[in-house]
Amino acid sequence: MARRKKVYEGKAKILYEGPEPGTFVQYFKDDATAFNAQKKDIIDGKGVLNNRLSEYFMTGLAQIGVPTHFLKRLNMREQLIRQVEIIPLEVIVRNYAAGTMSERLGLEEGTQLPRPIVEFCLKDDNLGDPLVSEEHIIAFGWAAQQDLDDMIALALRVNDFMSGCMFGVGIRLVDFKIEIGRVWEGDFQRLIIADEISPDSCRLWDMETGEKLDKDVFRRDLGDLADAYTEVARRLGVLPSNVTHATKPTLIN
Ligand code: C5P
Repeated sequence: MARRKKVYEGKAKILYEGPEPGTFVQYFKDDATAFNAQKKDIIDGKGVLNNRLSEYFMTGLAQIGVPTHFLKRLNMREQLIRQVEIIPLEVIVRNYAAGTMSERLGLEEGTQLPRPIVEFCLKDDNLGDPLVSEEHIIAFGWAAQQDLDDMIALALRVNDFMSGCMFGVGIRLVDFKIEIGRVWEGDFQRLIIADEISPDSCRLWDMETGEKLDKDVFRRDLGDLADAYTEVARRLGVLPSNVTHATKPTLIN
């Protein structure tokens, strides 16, 4: 059988040519990286969890009318997605101070922000994905003013949806990152959510205990990353608990 063509390999995912024009197959790897890939490891099962979780969030977003690249899950590690032109910006939404915002502004982690704050970083590993302003984005032509307005509106809708999903299972959505792509319909372009939405790209804290259930567990050596992601999946009902822990057979009368 002819090997399918690899289109792109990133730190946590691989894109292959899809079965039809305008589609890709997105493969989720077990690789975990942090600090611009200075820290690396393989976390068994991470790719499987992120494939399922990203499917869950993207499907839910589509149901409330937020367009995404997700078409369908193909197997444990792969999903079929729409091909998009990725806008070279990481869109970060923050509800509570943490991470680089806490460092930059001297805010204690966990401080509630006056309102959700949207930030943009230029996607450039060589530069360490620097924070950029809307002025930079327009002046350098990374996106147009209309795109920016649409990106902010999309990001805030994703924030409301994700905050609600997480609130329902006792988890605080501290912040997250999304990527947005363009699709063309004739001469018209539309922006849709691309890449992935998973605990790799969110900060998720247990509301009662403050326990971290996201990639900070790996970044800060706080424990077992796969256990943290499994807990998120279990609470959301994405992985039934008997998949991870074998149970005794029961007699059916
Ligand atoms: O590191 P920082 O505090 O700026 O991260 C904000 C949010 O964006 C976190 O949820 C982090 O996981 C996510 N992020 C990401 N990929 C990056 C940078 C940040 O998913 N390259």
